Amino acid sequence: MFKDLEGKVVVITGSGSGIGKAMAEQFGEEKANVILNYRSERHMDAIESSIKFIEDAGGKAIKVQADISKEDDVNHLVQSAVKHFGTLDIMINNAGFEKPIPTHEMPLEEWQKVIDVNLTGAFLGSKAAVNQFLKEDKQGIIINTSSVHDKIPWPNYVNYAASKGGLKLMMETMSMEYAQYGIRINNISPGAIVTEHTREKFSDSKTREETLEMIPAKAIGEADEVANVARFLASDLASYIHGTTIYVDGGMTNYPAFMGGKG
Ligand code: BGC
Repeated sequence: MFKDLEGKVVVITGSGSGIGKAMAEQFGEEKANVILNYRSERHMDAIESSIKFIEDAGGKAIKVQADISKEDDVNHLVQSAVKHFGTLDIMINNAGFEKPIPTHEMPLEEWQKVIDVNLTGAFLGSKAAVNQFLKEDKQGIIINTSSVHDKIPWPNYVNYAASKGGLKLMMETMSMEYAQYGIRINNISPGAIVTEHTREKFSDSKTREETLEMIPAKAIGEADEVANVARFLASDLASYIHGTTIYVDGGMTNYPAFMGGKG
């Protein structure tokens, strides 16, 4: 679909499930060289099946275990790409998680775990990628998976909302620093998407109905609908897009409470 992605080297963190898995497979369809990152062994089967999918599609793939909240692990991840495929073209900081806890009951460790993965992980991934791009004098690409909660507050998810709000200004700041080298840094902010993590939540009819009320398009999104945007942002068609966020949310960020024309 995007011819220029063929043979590109792309690292995707958190590619063992959900949006990251869909991204890995779509880049495989473009015949890219994909480095699938995962942390937990429980994602092994999913990772192996994506590798097979990518190879069948004509791409190449390797898997690298790494805890992206640790700088040594992230450097190892990026250097694995360079070692196996000779370079790094695209870094996708996708790994992230959420867990609801009222703020006044949130233990510091729970706050910290989410910040460490969602925000610090993206910082470390971006830093390692920029260093590699500068070393190679390459006009590389960084894409972060953020969330509609980089601008919509989310009660009981204070750590998650803070991590995504931080990710927005981190991306914009980094883009301002490195756009002059031709390095393109952007975010994708998904809304309600069905993945392994959210399938159970959305199969509850009450939660589903309540969620649909917040979405003008009246549909929960699919991981592939998010991954499509990553392909586009990584391609030459997005050559003038720097430091911005593309919301993939069925309109969720457009004040759906006003849909009835009230107020
Ligand atoms: C979360 C989902 C949630 C959606 C909309 C996303 O960032 O990962 O669990 O449904 O935001 O609230």
